[in-house]
Amino acid sequence: MTAQTSITRRYKFAAMHRLHSDRLSEEDNWKVFGKCNNPNGHGHNYVILVTVAGAIQERTGLATDVETLDRVVRETVVARFDHRDLNRDPAFADKTTTGENLAILIWDLLADKIPAGRLVNIGVVETRDNYFEYAGPAAAGAR
Ligand code: NI
Repeated sequence: MTAQTSITRRYKFAAMHRLHSDRLSEEDNWKVFGKCNNPNGHGHNYVILVTVAGAIQERTGLATDVETLDRVVRETVVARFDHRDLNRDPAFADKTTTGENLAILIWDLLADKIPAGRLVNIGVVETRDNYFEYAGPAAAGAR
């Protein structure tokens, strides 16, 4: 049997956002999101951790083509969000730009580009103290 291992690659982008829900009143937006609801928005240096798994190739000892993974993540995720306002991204038209929703969106964007079964986890570091994770719909259903 070929051993399955995983690798986690780290990517960065800077973006601004404002936590605001059209489903809440102005007062409730402030109660729920506090200063993150400030109309001027604010920025984060996001760190994205992408974990993929695969079988080790005997000839190389590698399980993942890192160069291809880097290209896919840069084209699909970093180029889309770097130096942008997340609230203006079409995927957030009816969703709040929380770390939770960002982790799910990045999973969905990459799941289209990475062969089935290889994507294991998306981590989103938003601030020093905030880290979000999404391991895909299968993991969510298993809980
Ligand atoms: Ni924020």
